[in-house]
Amino acid sequence: MSFCNPSKNCLKCQRLVDFRTENRKKFPSYYNGPVESFGDLNAEVLIVGLAPGLNGANQTNRPFTNDYAGDVLYPGLKKFGFAKGEYKKRKDDGFELLNVRVTNAVRCVPPQNKVTGEEIKNCRAFLIEEIKSMPHLKIILTLGAVAHNAVLGALGYKLSTFKFAHGAVHYLKNENLILINSYHTSRYNINTGVLTFEMFDDVIKKTKDLL
Ligand code: URA
Repeated sequence: MSFCNPSKNCLKCQRLVDFRTENRKKFPSYYNGPVESFGDLNAEVLIVGLAPGLNGANQTNRPFTNDYAGDVLYPGLKKFGFAKGEYKKRKDDGFELLNVRVTNAVRCVPPQNKVTGEEIKNCRAFLIEEIKSMPHLKIILTLGAVAHNAVLGALGYKLSTFKFAHGAVHYLKNENLILINSYHTSRYNINTGVLTFEMFDDVIKKTKDLL
């Protein structure tokens, strides 16, 4: 465990602890704990997602791994040189991130994929620690409005200071950081056409160009 990652039996959110207890009985082979961040702390880019999926990151203990959202995220990163190896939906697939770290606003799987404001607040200390522990951090890419707001909260901004919009680039002068927004790479967003693979590619390309 590092300060960036909660302990396996973190007790900060009762609802998530109850769900974890249930899942440990139902799915004993799953990780069923706060999912650890993926990638090097020396990376210049931090990608912040929402929360692990039940049969995805909650099973594999790697963000977005075996989640549909990872099928969009990881090939997209690889296409622009932010990853190498083959993404095979397992923590031990040898897939490596290059200059990118990936984490979630809430580290534990929530029931029905929905997190509460209180859970985001409870998990904020880990996001703060994550950001502080990345000495070369230049860009934070948030997937979805919930992650965007969680990052603003972690940095102490009012939510109205920087409005979420797909493709938006916000300059956080005090922190010397750039915040980039994308719609979340969820199955729902892809199936409804809210986000296309091309739209996501454009955001990754923008990230690369801004480095
Ligand atoms: N899996 C994750 O780890 N995070 C998300 O935001 C979605 C799926």
